[in-house]
Amino acid sequence: MTTPDGPAGDAPATSDAPATSEALEARAAAAQRKAYAPYSKFRVGAAAQMSGQVFEGANVENASYGLTICAERVAVFAAALAGAHRLEAIAVCSDASPPSSPCGACRQVLLEFAPDPAAVTVTAINSLGERRSWTLAELIPDGFSGRELP
Ligand code: THU
Repeated sequence: MTTPDGPAGDAPATSDAPATSEALEARAAAAQRKAYAPYSKFRVGAAAQMSGQVFEGANVENASYGLTICAERVAVFAAALAGAHRLEAIAVCSDASPPSSPCGACRQVLLEFAPDPAAVTVTAINSLGERRSWTLAELIPDGFSGRELP
């Protein structure tokens, strides 16, 4: 953490209790229904617990394909907009079997808000009830962070 508002900094205190993993997964599944994926048809929902609050995201595609944004980043950016900068856990819901893990770009964005990547659980689920989980440290070992910057 560089400043109170810097990378992986603390958000204002909140009274929200941490979500259970089941609750976080349910929010990710609910968010999947909000996906805008007319091109790939691959609908993804995410629920990030950040600074004690849960933020949903879904993928939003664009006719200019490269402008598409993944569900995970929508969730994390919604949290950042609300001042929640500490990532505690994230669940991702897709129709992939086995459940698909966050893409490389999203892993980097998740890392930005993870003071301790080994303590952040990333869970991927699908509607078949399949589940995979990792720590963020497993998904992006030796990642680039603000600590590298002058
Ligand atoms: N997608 C996500 O939302 N999250 C990921 O981690 C991987 C991919 C979306 C982007 C695009 O809308 C669709 O899935 C196909 O790549």
